[in-house]
Amino acid sequence: MKVPDIIIAIDGFSSTGKSSFAKRVAAKFGFLYLDSGALYRGVTLFAQEERLISKLNTVSPTLEEELRTLDIHFGTDGRTYMGPRCIENQIRSLEVSAQVSPIAAVPYVRAYVDRKLREFGQKGRIVMDGRDIGTTVFPHAQLKIFMTASEEVRARRRYDELVANGSMPALEDVVKNLRERDYIDSHRETAPLRKAPDAFELDNSHMDMQEELAWIQGLIQGKFGLLDAS
Ligand code: CDP
Repeated sequence: MKVPDIIIAIDGFSSTGKSSFAKRVAAKFGFLYLDSGALYRGVTLFAQEERLISKLNTVSPTLEEELRTLDIHFGTDGRTYMGPRCIENQIRSLEVSAQVSPIAAVPYVRAYVDRKLREFGQKGRIVMDGRDIGTTVFPHAQLKIFMTASEEVRARRRYDELVANGSMPALEDVVKNLRERDYIDSHRETAPLRKAPDAFELDNSHMDMQEELAWIQGLIQGKFGLLDAS
């Protein structure tokens, strides 16, 4: 199926399966997949390692200066790097998850990430997932999706993912983290998590990947017309 050179923006609450869905969609249509959350996680890991964030989530103003030269980027292998170092696994830990939302609420951190994200938007043919892609980063994206799922399903997915990566989290800590992040992400002043008025909602609590793909293909055909069947 041939898809025009559009930007697909996928937003939603924590652990709704945005990145797995976005990756599949990108692979299916030959688009580039970009995980905006990975950049916020990378900045958080940096702030933790440099001790620029306290246990109470107070951020040192030094971070703003450090961001002028901080190099967090996606490698050609699609993984996240800090300079030459691959940080893909480390940024997914519960320790980073515990502090990423307060860091992502800081306006200059958002400006740093937005700058990097918008560079990819020049050519289209991207699928980007996050919290504010359809509302703030690419408000003119031609296709916007807002993902939701029940809290139980989301917690179980994130728990299984952490276990698969070798951690042994308590399920209740995972639930607590999802709730805290959703609250902070939806209540911050700068670019809060919201469904864009023109976004299509996808509740995937009881859907598998095949059903999700069929859903978006139907949506694209409806919106952009029938595309050739290759
Ligand atoms: O855990 P999940 O995959 O759902 O989250 P993520 O996409 O890795 O994002 C981690 C955190 O980064 C979120 O909880 C938000 O605080 C922040 N974020 C954001 O503020 N704006 C975005 N566009 C993407 C992520």
